[in-house]
Amino acid sequence: MEPRHRPVLLQQVIESLALDPGLVFIDGTMGSAGHYSAVAGRLVPGGIAIGIDRDQSAIERARAVLEGMEFDGVELHLVHGEIAELERVLHKVGMQHADRVLFDLGLSSDQLDDPGRGFSFLREGPLDMRQDRRQTLTAEDVVNDYPEEALEHILREYGEERFSRRIAAAIVARRRGGRITGTLELATLIEQAMPGRRGKSHPATRSFQAIRMEVGGEVRQIEEGIRQAVELLSHSGRLAVITFHSLEERIVKRTLRPYGRHGGRTDWQVNMLGKVIEPDEEEVQGNPRSRSAKLRVYEKRLL
Ligand SMILES: C[S@@+](CC[C@H](N)C(=O)[O-])C[C@H]1O[C@@H](n2cnc3c(N)ncnc32)[C@H](O)[C@@H]1O
Repeated sequence: MEPRHRPVLLQQVIESLALDPGLVFIDGTMGSAGHYSAVAGRLVPGGIAIGIDRDQSAIERARAVLEGMEFDGVELHLVHGEIAELERVLHKVGMQHADRVLFDLGLSSDQLDDPGRGFSFLREGPLDMRQDRRQTLTAEDVVNDYPEEALEHILREYGEERFSRRIAAAIVARRRGGRITGTLELATLIEQAMPGRRGKSHPATRSFQAIRMEVGGEVRQIEEGIRQAVELLSHSGRLAVITFHSLEERIVKRTLRPYGRHGGRTDWQVNMLGKVIEPDEEEVQGNPRSRSAKLRVYEKRLL
């Protein structure tokens, strides 16, 4: 079970997190442990590294990756859970505060490239799109059971899809003839519903993103995860967030605004350090999926 996912902006994450021995680190989106293992190795001796993922197969992959590695006295905790329950997970491990938190949002290549998960519009698979397979809502439910207005809303809000109305209408017209169950069937239907001129990306990109975000409750997850992270951060603690599209960026910035220098808080603030960090050309060439990645690092300061 070799991981296919390559951690993005790895060096930049490590540098900007200013790691030291003994720190408590939470990776809220551990995936195949690319960032997690690199960070944990820099907490030696005495650190605590908590890795969370809501995909059980990511936990298993991470476990396999970590097996052959040495972390000399660093406590490793791998938890099947979600970032919206960060506080509960931290307390369960017996800690009250975290010094460093990382969220590398979205999908891993391991999820995207597995046709059985239904995330890809290029591979035939079931309309599933659940990262956490304990949940019941699937993409098939969204596509077949949501009213047209709700579909349109999701495509517009979560996919920033200009043709949300046409696509929602086409889905509703098609499903009158029977349930839509496959990824390629949906991707073709979306493509046909769109008018002639095409951009660089596949016509179903935005719609698939939107449906995935609905299935995963991603807006709430990011908001809750960030709120809990900043509350739990220790003095001088750092939060690093990697986003992959403009909606994720907006949610992150909006959620952090009340904690920032214009938020009116008098006890502590969380402000961005430096500028947004993006991958260099070499990384994008070697790993095209990194091209839209943006890293923001925030620090908590007592006033
Ligand atoms: C971009 S990948 C992370 C890759 C990881 N940094 C690495 O280097 O291997 C995102 C991971 O976060 C997980 N994930 C996404 N949203 C989550 C959430 N709300 N709670 C917990 N895990 C989540 C996904 O299941 C996926 O494995």
